Amino acid sequence: METFDTKAIHGRLAGSYPMQHRWHNRFHLEMPFGLINDPNGLAYFNGTYHIFYQWNPLGCEHKNKSWAHTVTRDFIHYTLPELSMWPDDVHDKDGCYSGCGTVDNGDLRVLYTCNRKEGDVRIPAQRFGTLQSDGTVRKEEIIIPDHPAGITGHFRDPYIFTRHGHRYIVLGAQRAEDEKGTVLIYGEQADGWHNLGEVQTRLGDFGYMWECPNLLQFGSYDVLMFCPQGLPEREFDRQNIYQSGYIAGHLSLDSMDMVQHTKFQELDHGFDFYAPQTFEHEGRHILIGWMGMPDKDDEYPTKEKGWMYSLTMPRELRLRQGHIYSRPVREMRDLRVQETAVEIEDTSVKELVRPLFQGAEILLNIEFGEARKVMLTLAFGLEQVVFAYDRDDQVMTIDRNGMHKGGRGIRRFKLFADTQLSLELFVDRSAIEVFFQHGEEAASLLVFPEKNILPELRLTAAEPLDGVNGTIWSLDSFKYQADC
Ligand code: FRU
Repeated sequence: METFDTKAIHGRLAGSYPMQHRWHNRFHLEMPFGLINDPNGLAYFNGTYHIFYQWNPLGCEHKNKSWAHTVTRDFIHYTLPELSMWPDDVHDKDGCYSGCGTVDNGDLRVLYTCNRKEGDVRIPAQRFGTLQSDGTVRKEEIIIPDHPAGITGHFRDPYIFTRHGHRYIVLGAQRAEDEKGTVLIYGEQADGWHNLGEVQTRLGDFGYMWECPNLLQFGSYDVLMFCPQGLPEREFDRQNIYQSGYIAGHLSLDSMDMVQHTKFQELDHGFDFYAPQTFEHEGRHILIGWMGMPDKDDEYPTKEKGWMYSLTMPRELRLRQGHIYSRPVREMRDLRVQETAVEIEDTSVKELVRPLFQGAEILLNIEFGEARKVMLTLAFGLEQVVFAYDRDDQVMTIDRNGMHKGGRGIRRFKLFADTQLSLELFVDRSAIEVFFQHGEEAASLLVFPEKNILPELRLTAAEPLDGVNGTIWSLDSFKYQADC
């Protein structure tokens, strides 16, 4: 176990804002040093949103997993992140792994996985903690020691939910018998938490491990979100090494069955999206994801600069006909500064070029007219990312091969656009999030332009478009301060 000099870490943090490097994002949460991954402990508590996330403050490796913490009232102003919990006892000596947050009796409590390895053996434990006024988490009772019979040591990432006034936990797991992924549910009773068993689905053989499950309720529908590992790539989906997605249906806690569920759908079609977590406040389901990917560290050149990865902007989720739509939370509109209208009514237009800002939001409605293929390019000098839509195949392709540094490749997914394509792009310094057809699909990706150059937007079509309209805004940065 490493020693954590928390005073030195906090001193270094305080001296690192504003973050300087040109790949550092302006409206995506990230750290000035170390490696971050999964969002954790999301909760609304005492008038503020609390966001924790996995952080290795000691280096850019997947080690020393700790929890960082920041607080916001409006998703624009954030407290300077602090180290909130770190591996410092026998149970979590190999990492304070992912978990959730919940408000309980006037306290913000977190429930996380203590990671402990003895040789090759994993001995997980699920433990509660309470947020203290100094920002640290006091580690408290272990409610599920080790793993249950029939499940391997891959048993982690607890998420609390409530049904009919009772509390339950869903946990990511691997079955011992066939080493396949699954989720387990525990229910709270007067004498503690009891294993209710595996949730039955119709997914069949669906990878070797399911990480980071979440259970959400939209009216009478339940959504089981999780991150399966070990699914083969397909033509129009599952193109990252690991996926983040969901099935929607009805969860019966009686029969432990996900009844009449949809197929597995991905939450995001970009290169850099994993381990999302959601929480609910005032009827909004808010999701934050990790902009990164496990086991792909070599694709992220910020490693040489001493930090890695970002979180997505917070997104609000809606369920319509078994499908999740996502859009950035409305608070993000408060970042808008300068506004330029895009209005082209001319029916012979084949090209549109616009310079962008350091941070930009671009909203475009494209009337196809005669065009069968439309290309939207974000150019950074000679480097570029291309979003190409093929109307005949109804396929969106994201091509990152035009970038020199970092991860490259292509992602393709089905997108229905009949006569009009709607795109919403948020272009930060290295993080890009795109929402297609009013949030029907989303894509998150990171790009690391070689040159310090402002991006340019180019829309091109082989045949004339019927018209393009929309708006481009320059966006301000998040503000970090001692108090929020
Ligand atoms: C997902 C994950 C979780 C685990 C955490 C450790 O990215 O592997 O399953 O709790 O990261 O950092």
